[in-house]
Amino acid sequence: MNATPFISPLDGGQGLDEDQVRLYYSRKTGDILHKYGPGPRVHFHVGLFPDGVHPGTTVPQSVLKARITGSQEAIVEYAARSWGAYERPPRRVLDIGCGLGGGSLYWAQQHGASVTGLTVAAEHVPLIEHFARQAGVGDRVSPSLGDVHEFTTEHAFDAAYANESSGYMDRTRLFEVVARALRPGGWFGIQEHFVCRPQWREFIDGYYRTRLGTRSEYLRAAEAAGLQLARDEDVTDRVCEFWVQSMAWNTAEADRIRSGTAQAGWTRERLQESTAVHGKFFRVWRDHAVETRLMLFRKGC
Ligand SMILES: C[S@@+](CC[C@H](N)C(=O)[O-])C[C@H]1O[C@@H](n2cnc3c(N)ncnc32)[C@H](O)[C@@H]1O
Repeated sequence: MNATPFISPLDGGQGLDEDQVRLYYSRKTGDILHKYGPGPRVHFHVGLFPDGVHPGTTVPQSVLKARITGSQEAIVEYAARSWGAYERPPRRVLDIGCGLGGGSLYWAQQHGASVTGLTVAAEHVPLIEHFARQAGVGDRVSPSLGDVHEFTTEHAFDAAYANESSGYMDRTRLFEVVARALRPGGWFGIQEHFVCRPQWREFIDGYYRTRLGTRSEYLRAAEAAGLQLARDEDVTDRVCEFWVQSMAWNTAEADRIRSGTAQAGWTRERLQESTAVHGKFFRVWRDHAVETRLMLFRKGC
């Protein structure tokens, strides 16, 4: 499948430029691996912390990293469990916007699924293949380069999964594509950030190159495509801590650069920018100006 540039008709012609997203991820892949790697399950999304728990941040950087990646695994596992994946494991999963494949590998390793991953970033594909082989699921994880808006497969998947990727997409078309791709009775699980106070939209979209939507926009798109909302959980308070731990990791990394012990990795400027932005994100999430939700939609039988 060829990836084609896509300008969203939903945002007044300003456009959601897939080329820009692609470029953003090609530039960022090394940084993602450095902070959230080494894999094989590498995630690029916020993580879940126990309710009301705020682990101290004056700890070694390795502890911060383990917490960050552990929280990313925890939210994937939490969602899968609450969506009933253990009771009825999906045999075929479409991982939409699969990033470096952490979610794809999770579905293959933990639930025995065969997973098709979709990404618009070409350099993700060989990395996911490598990680899948390393994890022993190379035969069940198939990453492919492509734009979900152009995905035309019908009635082939028991589940579709979009972890912090739907914010890059035209929701009307995304839900249409998913409704077509799912088998009757299939489900669509989403982890995503939703705009509650529109004045923050530009700041977040500018940083991540997203076009975040509102909860009601998603519900409208799902309904139009014939998918029913089955679960909707606000996990904002439990992911807020992610930004604090992330800022602490950044600060520790800046210290390593200053002391000359960092061999490779982020530039000082990137760290400064990320730390300042994550500080704002912490306040935005704490105030529920943006909410992170786990949503489950079902296709009728
Ligand atoms: C924030 S990352 C999330 C990655 C992964 N789901 C995870 O949780 O680690 C967003 C991903 O969405 C993908 N993406 C963005 N727009 C896309 C599109 N139109 N079609 C397919 N993938 C897309 C990007 O390539 C990137 O891998």
